[in-house]
This record gives sequence, C-alpha cells and structure tokens, in this order.
Amino acid sequence: MKLLPVLALCVTLFCSGYSSNGGRNAITDAEIKALSETLYSLDSNKASASQLILDTQALVPNSETSLKKDLSPRPLFRSVDEKALFSRPTYASLLALLDNYHRMTGQGEDFSPQQLAEQDTFLRETMSNTKLGRELFTFLQSKGIYASEKAFIQDLKMMWFGLYSRNNKQQDSSGFEHVFAGEIKGGKVSGFHNWVQFYLLEKKGQLNYYSHSFDGPWTSYPDVLGMQFTWDGYFKQIGSSMIGASPEFDFAVFSLCYITRPGKQCRVSVGGKNLSIQTYTWDNSSYGDGKKFLASAYPVTP
Ligand SMILES: *[C@@H]1O[C@H](CO)[C@@H](O)[C@H](O)[C@H]1NC(C)=O
Ligand SMILES: *[C@@H]1O[C@H](CO)[C@@H](O)[C@H](O)[C@H]1NC(C)=O
Repeated sequence: MKLLPVLALCVTLFCSGYSSNGGRNAITDAEIKALSETLYSLDSNKASASQLILDTQALVPNSETSLKKDLSPRPLFRSVDEKALFSRPTYASLLALLDNYHRMTGQGEDFSPQQLAEQDTFLRETMSNTKLGRELFTFLQSKGIYASEKAFIQDLKMMWFGLYSRNNKQQDSSGFEHVFAGEIKGGKVSGFHNWVQFYLLEKKGQLNYYSHSFDGPWTSYPDVLGMQFTWDGYFKQIGSSMIGASPEFDFAVFSLCYITRPGKQCRVSVGGKNLSIQTYTWDNSSYGDGKKFLASAYPVTP
C-alpha cells in the first residue's frame, strides 16, 4: 500500500516518459550504440562491394549545396545486382510498397486491400522474419516498451504507415512515404532517404544526380552519403541515405531512434563508426493514446 503514493508521484512528477512509453528514459546512449552495432552485425542482406557500385563524382562543400548545378554527368549508381538483392524477401516487400504513393502533398492517399496487405508483408518480412528485427523487438521488450511482438508490429504499423495531413487537409502523408518513397512539397523534394528508391528512379531516368556534399568514412556498406539531385525537376538540397543498407536495417535503426529518442539526434554506431540519426515527430495529429506519427528520420550529414 505504501508504494502507491510513490508510484503516483513518479508518474506525475519525475517519470513523465514512463507512463506513456513504458520506460524509454531508462535507455542509455551506450545501449542504443551497442544495439545498433548488433543490428549491423546481424544484417545479412546489406549490399556487398560487388553487388553495388557507386560513381560518386562531384563533391561540393556544404556552402554550395543550394546552387542547383548538375556537376555529375553520370548516374550515382553504376551498378546494382538486382538479381541477388531485390529477390530477397525484405527488398521485394519494400519494392512492392514504393509505388503505392502519390508523391504530391495535398493529394490524399488511399490504399487498395492489396496495398494494405503489402504494408503487413513489409513489417513481417523485415521485423518478424529477420534476426535483426527480432533483436530490436527483444531489446524493446526487455525495456518494457512492448509487451508482445504483436504490440510491437502494431505500433510500428501506425507509427510508419498511419496517414496524416501535411497539406490541403488531405490524408496525404505518412512516415514511410516521407522517408522511404519521398514526397514533393512546396515545389521541392521532401524526405527521400532510401537508396533503393533513389536507384530505381535514377534507372528510370526520373532522377538526376547532381553531386554529393558528404561521404561517410565507411569502406563497406552501408555508407552514408548526402546527395544533391532532382526528381522530375524538383530539387533536393541534401538527401542523406544509408547507401547499401538492407530495408530491415534502415527500418530498424530509424525505428530504434524514433522510439527511444523521438524528435532528437540519436547516436548509433555502424561498423565501429559513429553516426547520428535525426528523427522528427508529427505533432498535428496522433494515434492510439496520444502517440505521435513519425514525421521524418534520416542520417545526419555533418
Ligand atoms: C500543424 O499545426 C501547426 C500549429 O497548430 C499549424 O501552424 C500548422 O499549419 C499545422 N500544419 C498542418 C500541415 O496542418
Ligand atoms: C564516437 O562518439 C563518442 C561519444 O558518443 C565519442 O566519445 C567518440 O570519440 C566518438 N568516436 C569518434 C571516432 O569520433
């Protein structure tokens, strides 16, 4: 009985994060770093050096990323071994999702039953059917954030695929669309932080790579680049991606950072090297018990 007032005090005063998110405040930076390194070591689907060859060409200083100059005559992706990579279930489930969106904000999304099923397939393939996804769940469960795998998957589904309105009062956006597929907002590319989408559009001739302003210290994949490019003429000043990461690695690391450090920079470690991931919450609408949709997540380019 004596515990009750203490608990009430904790909930109201000191532990504001605990009641709504099950203890994220208890997760240290060191734990996040260690887990990200484990996820990296479990990522059996990242691209190897021979499966993905880049042609990075022009490097521009940060002060020149806004110049909109095409300084690279050739595509960024020289070659991708589609046969080896895209036939894998997690890549296949990502590819199935990428064409489900209207890229223009202000234009509402609506999904067929098949497209909704593709969301479930992606969550199952990346999170339930990989060691990497199960490792993330086991960690979050051990911290009391999710009681069951079902609760974990259901929350990821709302967080990433739940629709909200960026423009024109339409249900036109979601975290997944913004981060993985990319959007057009105010005449510019918004979001767009996945290398597979970059490669596919570049191959179709719809994306024109201009330059990069950041190339991380990694000598194998994933390697973080910050790119300047246009998508059907719409410009992106700095679009950063973990190039060569598997879909499950992107999804797991972004989710880890969003769940444990929402709206902040989150320090992870990838192949022994530091990386910061910035996430943003969507604050204009919510799901469940006041939970926030993911607005954005991307690797920070210093
Ligand atoms: C989100 O909310 C803020 C503050 O209420 C408002 O200024 C902004 O226009 C809203 N954005 C959208 C897209 O609804
Ligand atoms: C990585 O980050 C930690 C702090 O989180 C810092 O102490 C360390 O020096 C960094 N390592 C490098 C190589 O920058």
